[in-house]
Amino acid sequence: MKIVMVGSGYVGLVSGACLADFGHDIVCIDKDPAKIGKLNKGEMPIFEPGLADLVAKNVEAGRLSFTTDLPSAIEGAGAIFIGVGTPSRRGDGHADLSYVYGVAEEIGASLKHAAVIVTKSTVPVGTGDEVERILRASGTAQKFSVVSNPEFLREGAAIGDFKRPDRIVIGAEDEFGREVMREVYRPLFLNESPIHFTSRRSAELIKYGANAFLAAKITFINEMADLCERAGGDIQEVARGIGLDNRIGSKFLHPGPGYGGSCFPKDTLALLKTAEDYGSPLQLIEAVVKVNESRKRAMGRKVIDALGGAQAARGKRVTLLGLTFKPNTDDMRDSPALAVAQVLTDAGVELIAYDPEGMEQAQPMMPHVTMSTSPYAAIEGADAIVLITEWDAFRALDLKRVKELVRAPVMVDLRNVYDPAEMRAAGFTYVSIGR
Ligand SMILES: NC(=O)c1ccc[n+]([C@@H]2O[C@H](COP(=O)([O-])OP(=O)(O)OC[C@H]3O[C@@H](n4cnc5c(N)ncnc54)[C@H](O)[C@@H]3O)[C@@H](O)[C@H]2O)c1
Repeated sequence: MKIVMVGSGYVGLVSGACLADFGHDIVCIDKDPAKIGKLNKGEMPIFEPGLADLVAKNVEAGRLSFTTDLPSAIEGAGAIFIGVGTPSRRGDGHADLSYVYGVAEEIGASLKHAAVIVTKSTVPVGTGDEVERILRASGTAQKFSVVSNPEFLREGAAIGDFKRPDRIVIGAEDEFGREVMREVYRPLFLNESPIHFTSRRSAELIKYGANAFLAAKITFINEMADLCERAGGDIQEVARGIGLDNRIGSKFLHPGPGYGGSCFPKDTLALLKTAEDYGSPLQLIEAVVKVNESRKRAMGRKVIDALGGAQAARGKRVTLLGLTFKPNTDDMRDSPALAVAQVLTDAGVELIAYDPEGMEQAQPMMPHVTMSTSPYAAIEGADAIVLITEWDAFRALDLKRVKELVRAPVMVDLRNVYDPAEMRAAGFTYVSIGR
């Protein structure tokens, strides 16, 4: 089937490349000519493991192409996916749907055949109804169906997640929509991936519900870690003991500096706004958002404490290891590193950072931070090291070498990568989370 993906970012590009790999003919569209120019030269606009090879293979096979021209790209496409951004709207936290609705208008203006329009972007309940209204208002005489197909892939593991998903959710209101979506995902049917057909509104709610639940799970274990610190427990032992319960599960029970990234912060906020609009507030998620926001800055204060307090911290040099919100991505959106760096900069701390993939995106967002060329170069002369993102490159640092390079052997490990006893035996002042 010919399929069009409008929006060639983390979701659109990965989904497009994977669907091409399943054998479909894919055209990825973006309104950013620089992005499309790069893709047409075989350069990846984002870092995602395995993506460059997958794109190259499918371009070569003639199944994947890139363009900025929507009207000609959608000619003959059986399914047109909308995978554009839905960031927080400035001022009120609602999802900004202007990009989604803009694409719906563009499609309506040039649709010349029957097609299914699929929202893959994360959108609040009722957005599909509005997309349908926009398409009707465009006056198109063609048969169409608007389907919700939320995406659950994780950056850093996106290709595996798309090709072997826990489930595929398809919210459709008619048989035409369901039939075309069955065809799109037929290779995964054959793989026995569960396909969950729902109403369109349910599908939209599932995506936000899942993200809010995961954000709550992270926030829960973060607060338990704080309690461990005060009460004298070890959060690693506690989390394992809790997670071994099959009803709970061990995933998302890793304490850290607070959730960040391109999804959880904006999606929890948008869900709260939706719930408010429907007069059905989600008080649990309200608390999650509040706790998480204050946590990120609290992590900055933890570093200041490790430096000996506000007075001692001024003028000290601190190394940040890892800037992205998680490893294996270059995505800096809402990364906890931004809040930690801000608190430290405000306290007069000099910051040097190293991140394997995120520095290019990070630099304009953290103009006061000096980017370095390697973990060891970044560490040189530091009064403290803050491990913010658990990249593999930071998991087995040569501690002897680190100790020789730093001015003071202080490590604040916000991901509990290292073992407290070993670090202390190696002569480090070691601060972790909940241990
Ligand atoms: N990033 C993730 O891990 C992830 C996971 C699941 C769901 N989502 C959701 O998927 C959606 C996209 O997220 P993303 O991270 O890929 O965003 P992104 O910002 O990386 O990509 C969005 C792309 O859409 C393009 N775009 C905007 N308006 C356009 C238009 N009118 N025509 C063509 N292209 C246009 C932008 O130029 C950009 O390249 C969001 O709703 C997000 O919440 C993201």
